[in-house]
Amino acid sequence: MSDIPDRLWIANAWSDAEAGATFATTNPATGEVITQVAEARAVDVHRAVESAREAFSGKAWRQMNPHRRAELLWKLADALEANADELAALETADNGKPYFESRKVDLPSVVENFRYFAGMADKVQGETIPVAGPFFNYTRREPLGVVGVITPWNFPLSLAAWKVAPALACGNCVVLKPAEQTPLTALRLGELAAEVGFPPGVLNVVPGFGPTAGSALVRDPGVDAIAFTGSTEVGRVVMREAADTLKKVSLELGGKSPNVVFADAELKSAVRGASTGIFYGKGEVCAAGSRILVERPVYDDFVEQFAGRARQMTVGDPMDEKTRLGAIVSEEQLERVLGYIEAGKAEGARLVAGGERTTVNGRGNFVTATVFADVEPPMRIAQEEIFGPVAAIIPFDDVDDAVAKANQTIYGLAAGIWTRDVGKAHRVAAEIQAGTVWINTYNQYDSASPFGGYKQSGFGRDLGWESALEKYTQVKSVWVALDR
Ligand code: NAI
Ligand code: MG
Repeated sequence: MSDIPDRLWIANAWSDAEAGATFATTNPATGEVITQVAEARAVDVHRAVESAREAFSGKAWRQMNPHRRAELLWKLADALEANADELAALETADNGKPYFESRKVDLPSVVENFRYFAGMADKVQGETIPVAGPFFNYTRREPLGVVGVITPWNFPLSLAAWKVAPALACGNCVVLKPAEQTPLTALRLGELAAEVGFPPGVLNVVPGFGPTAGSALVRDPGVDAIAFTGSTEVGRVVMREAADTLKKVSLELGGKSPNVVFADAELKSAVRGASTGIFYGKGEVCAAGSRILVERPVYDDFVEQFAGRARQMTVGDPMDEKTRLGAIVSEEQLERVLGYIEAGKAEGARLVAGGERTTVNGRGNFVTATVFADVEPPMRIAQEEIFGPVAAIIPFDDVDDAVAKANQTIYGLAAGIWTRDVGKAHRVAAEIQAGTVWINTYNQYDSASPFGGYKQSGFGRDLGWESALEKYTQVKSVWVALDR
């Protein structure tokens, strides 16, 4: 890897934090420190916000011809594509996810995302409204101003793209606070944006910790909106702290998504799909299908096949292109996951695969693909988001029982349904309280299709045209008298 980005990116320039503070970002597969990164605190975040405000009020960005804005976003997509190998390696080093995922899934989707929203940049338009009286009334779709984006560590570049691309397409300026565990690719994103011609201050990146840098961004009066992805717990804090300045808030939070396997499903695909559903991304996925509900007639068969598949999901060096199960992002997260495995055993669930901490080449934060069967809905491993490669299999009796169990959670992010009965599939899809439902598939995403939560999985949608308009623009109604 060439130059590793390690400072704050403000107004298209690198700078140190005012207090000179830095923090280490670590490769969780080796335990080695990748680099020390400048740590933004409130004063640094404020400097980034001021730079974004200045960019927003200046002419260069605000009055930029929308076709040119589209072109810049497209060029940024090209730059990301041209640097995909480097960015994927950086992401894998920082996060521990398999290079296969970073390079073959994350990066292409990030590029697609910027291209999709590039297409939107010159199509943000208002309406003419038929009002009473001698008046002409029309609406303008205007940007909010400065959008604060706070992202987690599981899909660092993808989740930044999900928010940064539409926010910029709609004409906003952005201050991005990446997760402290994985700040590197976000910094490169800022640098690449400058390289392709984004004016200074339009995209700023300030790595730092949640309670300091993140909280400062949420409280700063110069920020108009917060787009957050992370834990439900922190989502509550963000909403509370944003209240003082009445910021527009959107929250994409945790999940405990059900993957419902009916007895009439094509069992082999269901096993495969449920396996990707929980083990992709080491299970550190907000939409992970962490509760697998299986109809009784095929329950034993499913458990046996699923556990067999899990045992073959061996961990490996994330940089090895064959590796499909990488390293848990941090020591802290590793402890959390192991804690849940202990809780599952203690509560009487039947451990049928994995359940152990392991290493690769004698080091790193790895956990074997873990499967609990005979899980009961009230157990902690069926209620709380684990964010690790741990599946909880729960039996059910019939459609009503499946729906009731699927909805027996505070979360509502996603769900999977496996059946060959088309009518049943759509009936159940309508009954499950979740923002996304996958039928006979799992983990499908597209820049054009909205993604976000019901219930305590949050509100607001990422991706998709309308979600972006709702989230990153405001409507101005303009009245014109026609009789004078
Ligand atoms: P987190 O919610 O603390 O971190 C997400 C982001 O929020 C990070 O950028 C962090 O710095 C920031 N943040 C933290 N406290 C903040 C505050 N007071 N004000 C503003 N920003 C703040 O997530 P954490 O602690 O890293 O992970 C804990 C658990 O959260 C995971 O085990 C998982 O269950 C869940 N999680 C869910 C994610 C999702 O995609 N829905 C992503 C990350 C974590
Ligand atoms: Mg790291």
